[in-house]
Amino acid sequence: MTMEITRRSLLNGILASTASMTLSPTVFSMVGPGPSIIRLSSNENPYGPSSKALKAAAKASAKGAYYPGRIAAELMQMIADKNKLEINQIAISSGSNEALSAAVVGWGKSGKIISPSLTYDLHLGYAQRIGTKVLRVPLDNDMSIDLDAMHAAVDKSVSMIYLCNPNNPTGKTIDGDTLRNFCRVVGKKVTVLVDEAYNELTDNPEYTSMVDLIREGENVIVMRTFSKLYGMAGMRIGYAMGREDLITKVRNHVMAWPNIVGLAAAHACYNENDFIKFSLNKINQGRALVNKVFIEHGIKPLPSETNFVFADIGRNVKNFEIKMRQENVLVHREYSLYPNHLRVSMGKMEDLQIFADAFKKVYTS
Ligand SMILES: Cc1ncc(COP(=O)(O)O)c(C=O)c1O
Repeated sequence: MTMEITRRSLLNGILASTASMTLSPTVFSMVGPGPSIIRLSSNENPYGPSSKALKAAAKASAKGAYYPGRIAAELMQMIADKNKLEINQIAISSGSNEALSAAVVGWGKSGKIISPSLTYDLHLGYAQRIGTKVLRVPLDNDMSIDLDAMHAAVDKSVSMIYLCNPNNPTGKTIDGDTLRNFCRVVGKKVTVLVDEAYNELTDNPEYTSMVDLIREGENVIVMRTFSKLYGMAGMRIGYAMGREDLITKVRNHVMAWPNIVGLAAAHACYNENDFIKFSLNKINQGRALVNKVFIEHGIKPLPSETNFVFADIGRNVKNFEIKMRQENVLVHREYSLYPNHLRVSMGKMEDLQIFADAFKKVYTS
């Protein structure tokens, strides 16, 4: 691991100094978070990309004159093999948000989309703006996704249920078999779109995932991303898995192509087990630190199996977030349905220490 870290820091150093030769400091500061900004607001993973992914990206960028070529099919085959699916059951997209948008727009043409009232919803907002109807079902009292209420809301006017497991921003996970039963029953009526952006970070990813239902031919689509575990949010690679007919429909509604650099990086790190272990370990360490900060201030965070933590801080997040920003620490802005709940994403351990100090200062002032 030390060797790996040393090699990674070395490579990062080389790439950073090459970048600084070709990008002026002013332009470089426009890439990602600005200088001295601790960004804990977007559920990114600053421990990625892996050094292998970075090397692959640098090499592939030399062929940036060309459209991607066979690399996309190769990556799809790797994803299919790992998940015991066929290649025609996989679609790669420019971040999973693109495949999510394609799915809700595609299904939205023949009916409403049901979603939890508090969840990841960029794609839902996009679909609504172009005419899709979205019905939002409140969470239950302990902030879990209310599967019974979602099921009860299904009628002939509905074409799809979207849910996210674990959910963003709560971080809570629906039990694997509970969701499996739900998908089997509800899938007889409408397609269930399960967003597994954080699945690989859960305690038991295989049990929590609905990929096995795809192998059984159920009416389920699973979305995954390279943005979280693999730390490649800026490289924009995500993918959809599902029955061939469902995946064809998703593909038919996708607008943006994945790029050559992201594809090469994803291909390089998809099965890189050492990096995956390292990344998971860092995320877990970070989460323990953020949980500790909350608990030290008498705040009870929700149990999270993700790279973020959600907690009722007992005061309005709107002002709190502004004050944290003044300390150069970005946390998520207020959620209108839950104005006292704060979401904090993982960062590097040293950044989380700065968060801890800023939190103490702002919370106790
Ligand atoms: C639940 C969920 N799904 C999808 C996405 C989008 O990820 P991507 O970067 O793959 O577009 C996010 C991003 O935060 C997310 O939280």
